[in-house]
Amino acid sequence: MSSLDTQTRGRTSRGRLRALDAYLCHAERELLSRRDGPWARAVFVDVGFGEHPWTTLESAEAFRALQPELAVIGVELDAERARAASAHADARTHFREGGFELPLGEDEPARLVRAMNLLRQGPPERVPEVHRTLSRYLLPSGLLVEGSADPEGAILTAHLLRRGPDAEAPPFREALLFHTDFRHGFAPLLFRDWLPRDLRRRVRPGEPIHAFFSEWDAAWREARAAGHAAPPDAFHETAPRLAARTGGVETDAWLLERGFLVWKAEGGVSP
Ligand SMILES: C[S@@+](CC[C@H](N)C(=O)[O-])C[C@H]1O[C@@H](n2cnc3c(N)ncnc32)[C@H](O)[C@@H]1O
Repeated sequence: MSSLDTQTRGRTSRGRLRALDAYLCHAERELLSRRDGPWARAVFVDVGFGEHPWTTLESAEAFRALQPELAVIGVELDAERARAASAHADARTHFREGGFELPLGEDEPARLVRAMNLLRQGPPERVPEVHRTLSRYLLPSGLLVEGSADPEGAILTAHLLRRGPDAEAPPFREALLFHTDFRHGFAPLLFRDWLPRDLRRRVRPGEPIHAFFSEWDAAWREARAAGHAAPPDAFHETAPRLAARTGGVETDAWLLERGFLVWKAEGGVSP
């Protein structure tokens, strides 16, 4: 265990990250399916899969619809959980004990590293170091997804961090992804308690994430005043109003119809 790793509870439920799988299959199809050069060996790593590896296995199934040969590696700090998960291993699916430094071999570059619901504790100031460590095995243009979700996966937010050509540089904070399945209705502030670790306490005046939420809230009030009261409709109608006020908001119909909002802040999402 390195000094960055801390033990956390292992709770996870089936289906919790299904929406994230769907988003990645839609938005990162090429990343998940390419097999040129080193990409032929490039793995998907699920870090901290929890007491049972359900979400790893669900993602493996979803991503293999795009790339049947995809190698999947579930990593757990808890040795007993890693051992128990081995019952689900097969030729392309492996479970290993390890932490943020990732127990990968030199011949196992990563295309996608996911670390969901891990950074609950620990100082937010250490998050950049964690991101950098988790990105070490990514191929250039590979993606790190780090964020949190409520226990059922009804509300989810995640950083999308992209590795650039320079292996020494920190991954670029390309976007913030929000998702709701509307089980809890919709209001922008619904996401505040499920923001990634380094942003959760930053929704206060003067911070870029506060400015973003203020604009999203104003756009939502406008949409409701225009008669869009039902949560999916309000969500859908709020996005173009938000995009008119804030740069980098994607208004792709596929995303909005399914409760996804992607914010690609110019210059990257501020820490
Ligand atoms: C709350 S569970 C999350 C499970 C699943 N990722 C999800 O989103 O539902 C967190 C798991 O991450 C593991 N964990 C915590 N820190 C870790 C680290 N640095 N490296 C690998 N696993 C870690 C814990 O042992 C625990 O089983």
